Amino acid sequence: MKDTLILGIESSCDETSVAVVKNGREVLSNVINTQISIHELYGGVVPEIASRNHVENISPVMKEALKQANIKLDDIDGIACTYGPGLVGALLVGVAYAKALSYASGKPLIATNHIEGHIAANYITYKDLKPPFLTLLISGGNTQLVLVKDYTEFEILGKTRDDAVGEAFDKVARVIGLGYPGGPKMDNLAKQGEPNIELPKVHVDGLDFSFSGLKTAVINLHHKIPDINKANLAASFEKNIAEILIEHTKKAIKETGITKIALAGGVSANSYIRQEFSKLQNEKNIEVYYPELKLCTDNAAMIASAGYYNFIKGNISDLTLNAVPNLKL
Ligand SMILES: Nc1ncnc2c1ncn2[C@@H]1O[C@H](COP(=O)(O)OP(=O)(O)OP(=O)(O)O)[C@@H](O)[C@H]1O
Ligand SMILES: [Mg+2]
Repeated sequence: MKDTLILGIESSCDETSVAVVKNGREVLSNVINTQISIHELYGGVVPEIASRNHVENISPVMKEALKQANIKLDDIDGIACTYGPGLVGALLVGVAYAKALSYASGKPLIATNHIEGHIAANYITYKDLKPPFLTLLISGGNTQLVLVKDYTEFEILGKTRDDAVGEAFDKVARVIGLGYPGGPKMDNLAKQGEPNIELPKVHVDGLDFSFSGLKTAVINLHHKIPDINKANLAASFEKNIAEILIEHTKKAIKETGITKIALAGGVSANSYIRQEFSKLQNEKNIEVYYPELKLCTDNAAMIASAGYYNFIKGNISDLTLNAVPNLKL
């Protein structure tokens, strides 16, 4: 069978990325231009600055992606672009670029959901992984337990009622003075501490989550005791979150009878959370998957992979495609 090459375009937040992926699984190139150092100055992503930088970077990043994959635009079979969820101005850059490219080249346009992309990152790391499986999506904007019924068919089993896990990591990090992006900095600091600080564990009915109470408790504690050991605080916060995530995952496994669980999204790069989920694997007949580190946070290879599965299903878009900032799975 002929190989299918998909060009992926990602610009939903502060990474401009273009990738070429073969048959949804093999990365020929995955060029990521991150704006972290620019937004670091402001303590978080400034949407207008993100859009401007996407405009400046998208053409050179695309050219580099084709060069690294050693192909020409004419060799690709489809153009997949993130059209949501994300920052509207940032998304629009990728969507407009993909539409122009599709029009000029005559190649089909594949509107791709960023969350589907995070899940698809696992298909790149695990060539044999096939639905059905469960996904715990833990990212900057989303926290969901998802039943992946098929490559393009999903059922949300539970979701956060307030903050996403990544958002809680970033807000706590900012308050305790670690700066942006908080997740990786909390991860490193927690390694130097002990999880010996009591924090509230918020339980919600069913498989939903709530993290704002925990976030506020950590922030209040830091205000009340300014010289509190920050490494212990970070370790206690991470432990609390990992316990909740694992409890809910076990519940979802019990309810569905599905024993394959794939982590996805930026927070799945967290070393403590990965370590605790690995233990789950040793405990029972459970298989745990997590994308390689580079594929956990935003990148276009995961978009090209998700785009591939939409392409073979015939999910092609026309040039009226628009960005959808609050797009759901
Ligand atoms: N090692 C880590 N430990 C904890 N959190 C991490 C780590 N690395 C990254 N993160 C967090 O992951 C988030 C970024 O991930 P991601 O790129 O998936 O989110 P996003 O694209 O902003 O949101 P979404 O995908 O929901 O639209 C940030 O909140 C960041 O702090
Ligand atoms: Mg993301």
